[in-house]
Amino acid sequence: MNAQALMDTARVLVAGDRGLLAMDESNPTCNKRFARLGIVQTAESRRAYREMIVTTPGLGECISGAILFDETIRQQTTDGTPFVEVLSDAGVIPGIKVDTGAAEMAGHPGEKITEGLDGLRDRLAEYYCMGARFAKWRAVIAVGEGVPGRACVEANAHALARYAALCQECGFVPVVEPEVLMDGGHTLERCSDVTGLVLHSVFTQLFLQGVMLEGIILKPNMVLPGLLCPAQPGVDEAADATVKCLLRSVPAAVPGIAFLSGGQSAELASARLNAMNATFGSRLPWALAFSFARAIQGPALEIWEGKESNVPAAQKALYHRAMCNRAARRGEYDAAIERMSA
Ligand code: G3H
Repeated sequence: MNAQALMDTARVLVAGDRGLLAMDESNPTCNKRFARLGIVQTAESRRAYREMIVTTPGLGECISGAILFDETIRQQTTDGTPFVEVLSDAGVIPGIKVDTGAAEMAGHPGEKITEGLDGLRDRLAEYYCMGARFAKWRAVIAVGEGVPGRACVEANAHALARYAALCQECGFVPVVEPEVLMDGGHTLERCSDVTGLVLHSVFTQLFLQGVMLEGIILKPNMVLPGLLCPAQPGVDEAADATVKCLLRSVPAAVPGIAFLSGGQSAELASARLNAMNATFGSRLPWALAFSFARAIQGPALEIWEGKESNVPAAQKALYHRAMCNRAARRGEYDAAIERMSA
């Protein structure tokens, strides 16, 4: 393990005001999003969509790293340039999702365990040769009556830590993503309790597996109530709850926290990240950044509609969201920036 190289990569990923772009939807998830908009669901269609994203003019101004899916890291632009090369030329570090998805957890109805450890060392070696320098593994934690249970929390934390240790051994910065879902009607307080519990379990397991915290990025959910909860917080309340929970659970050695968006609207995700940075920014031990998928890609996908003629407008929408989140990292996002014509 080259500890210095890992620390350098982790620092670059969260340096300044840039953040990560998650474009690592699995084929079924990507197809589901295409189907909702009437876009044809083929490998070529997914390739064309990802080409639109990686060739967005100015992408590297706002995005430090892009997380790819196995199919995407092997794809090229229409002129034959590998996506990995296009990203690197734009100053964007290529990353790769390496979990193979979340499966029903045996004996625990309604809970999931993320799979993908078998053969991971070999897959990482191949991705390293392709140019990827960081990886992602997502654990999903549902909230409900009696859920999550200890078995689910600890099994997912253990898998995340084993993945992270393998990543560092193979020269990858692991993005450690324990996602407490927003599905359901739970309160903000319940999300805070569950997120705190999950993060404590994750950092205990990272310690046990000997993972170097200076060479990871944490990708958690923000602390928010379920989407069906009648009491939805204001932007500042959500920001305060999130930072309070993280301060209690995340060691200062971690260089950066890059949030997932989790089903929030694009504007709310930017506003909440902005409030955290504006209120607490310089007093925090870690950088607070973004690693959004839907909250960056959403508007662009709706404009693109699978049509070549819509590419320039879709790229402007993508750049606009990336630029709004860049402003949120500085605590400078506001209605005027949001309105700024894409
Ligand atoms: O695994 C999920 C992605 O990395 C983040 O996606 O921002 O749409 O929640 P999201």
